[in-house]
Amino acid sequence: MSVHTEIKRVTTHILQEMKNRGEKISCLTAYDYSMARIVDAAGVDLILVGDSASNVMAGHETTLPITLDQMIYHATSVVKAVKRALVVVDIPFGSYQGNSTEALRSAIRIMKESGAHAVKMEGGSEIKESIVRVLSAGIPVMGHLGLTPQSIYKFGTYTVRAKEEEEAKKLMEDAKMLDEVGAFGVVLEKIPSDLTKKVSQSITIPTVGIGAGADADGQILVVHDMLGINKEFKPRFLRRYADLDGIMNEAISQYVKDVKSVDFPSEKESY
Ligand code: KIV
Repeated sequence: MSVHTEIKRVTTHILQEMKNRGEKISCLTAYDYSMARIVDAAGVDLILVGDSASNVMAGHETTLPITLDQMIYHATSVVKAVKRALVVVDIPFGSYQGNSTEALRSAIRIMKESGAHAVKMEGGSEIKESIVRVLSAGIPVMGHLGLTPQSIYKFGTYTVRAKEEEEAKKLMEDAKMLDEVGAFGVVLEKIPSDLTKKVSQSITIPTVGIGAGADADGQILVVHDMLGINKEFKPRFLRRYADLDGIMNEAISQYVKDVKSVDFPSEKESY
């Protein structure tokens, strides 16, 4: 008799229950099959196929160049590996800002072609119509407020957002709007901790912070940053849990030495 242990998938409803009972939500990015398998097996609740793939996977300076086709490619690989986490995919720059029909078309392509569970869109009232349209097709939407990297050329820097009263007020209004229209959550990026606390207490849906302090209902980091693969990126909010750059460099340097000295392959490693 085989013992079959069923894994309970994380849904948007489960995330809501986690907020309701005060359990923090753990989130990380992933962009490929192998990494997503490790992240999922380690128990992360939500995996974001972020458009940070543009920086991390493709080496672009910003998130703007990544295309919808490329996001679908990454998302398809991640979905194949994930058994438990909720998989959320960023709709990339230029694929939803035009109008709500474009937003819906892009969201449907992501859901249909990759098998992901939800999409994320950056912005508030400016894209309300698109958010509502995507939601009306039964596609769960996550918002993203504060530092929204797709607007980097408008901001000019990656510094902390919503420090001034006016911007903080708009962010609060946008968060309430996302709650009212039926988004299932919202990422708050690089905003003051006290604003995160106020927003998280004022809306019913979960907030997920990055550089937004401890009072968000969950936390997210870019997996390559927290594993120390990307060594140059050192913002204050980043905690490094490993030095994979160092570990990988050491292993690969040893391999190079072993190949040069004909230590590898040995007789045992040969046929
Ligand atoms: O693209 C991304 O990785 C993100 C997270 C930083 C929230 O949007």
